[in-house]
Order: sequence, then C-alpha cells, then structure tokens
Amino acid sequence: MGKYIAGSDPAVPAGRHVLEDCVEAATMAPSLHNSQPWKFRIADGAVNVYADHTRQLAVLDPSGRELMISVGAAVFNLRLRLRQAGHLPRLTVFPDSGQSDLVATVTSAGPAPVTTSRSSNSLPRSSTGTLTGIRSRAPSSPLTSPNT
Ligand SMILES: Cc1cc2nc3c(=O)[nH]c(=O)nc-3n(C[C@H](O)[C@H](O)[C@H](O)COP(=O)(O)O)c2cc1C
Repeated sequence: MGKYIAGSDPAVPAGRHVLEDCVEAATMAPSLHNSQPWKFRIADGAVNVYADHTRQLAVLDPSGRELMISVGAAVFNLRLRLRQAGHLPRLTVFPDSGQSDLVATVTSAGPAPVTTSRSSNSLPRSSTGTLTGIRSRAPSSPLTSPNT
C-alpha cells in the first residue's frame, strides 16, 4: 500500500481544494510568450481545461498551434499535481464535440501511491508546502469562467 499526501483522501473523488491546487499548478506551465491561453472550470469533481483564443498571439501563432501546445503543457502540470496528491489522473481530450474550446477534462480515477520520482517533485514548492511562483506570473485569476 502506498503513502498518500495528508489533506487529500484518494478513496473519494478529488475534493475541490485538491482540484484548485491542481489548477494553480497548471497555471505555472510555460506558454508562448507567457500568453497563458487557458481557462479552467471545476465542476462535479472534474477540472475542465479550455483554450482561451482571446489570448492567442495572432501574428506569431496564426493557426493556434502553439496556443494548443501551451494548453497541453498546462494539462500536463494539472495531471502531475493530481498524481502527486495521490489520485490517478483520468484524462479525456476534447470530451464534447459541441465545445471545441474544451480541450480536456481531468478527473481522479481512484487512488494511486505517492512516489518520490523527479517529475512528481518538479513543481516548485515553498518551505511551507505551498506552490510558489504562480501569483507573480499570472496576469489574471486562474479560475476565470470561460463564459465571462
Ligand atoms: C509552451 C511554449 C513555450 C515556449 N518557450 C519559449 C522559450 O522559452 N524561448 C523561446 O525562444 N521560445 C519559446 N517558445 C517559442 C517556440 O520555441 C517557437 O515558437 C518555436 O521555435 C516554433 O517552432 P516550430 O513551429 O517549428 O515548432 C515557446 C513556445 C511554446 C508553445
């Protein structure tokens, strides 16, 4: 039996505070010219990740290819943080054909042992255990609604 990080109970769906922590980690991902072209919505134990085309760099990235790479990096961080919290991430890409901006949905598929691999420790943390770096980087709240 593996060990689990205190504060998250992997026997139940990931709680909102865990998912908010995952979103915070996601917003630390690299993006083209730090454009941060993503939005997140937490609902029903899942994090929905949206491409924010209002932040697309039209001259540098007319096709949106690098925007999508950036969103992918955010999704990777999100999954990594969820795994770090003791949950096996379940990823569904483009879950709704009617919502082309909805790039991914991430949920917990159940408990997973916490490891001490390099990647699971790669997100920067302060000595108090909180994620660092994001607040000084983010130009806007990571929890903005895609409809606002
Ligand atoms: C997530 C992301 C991070 C990037 N970070 C950097 C960077 O740190 N320095 C840089 O010069 N370019 C950076 N870029 C720009 C890409 O390196 C550049 O657009 C790429 O070389 C385009 O080449 P390609 O379209 O042939 O793949 C980044 C792009 C993306 C999508």
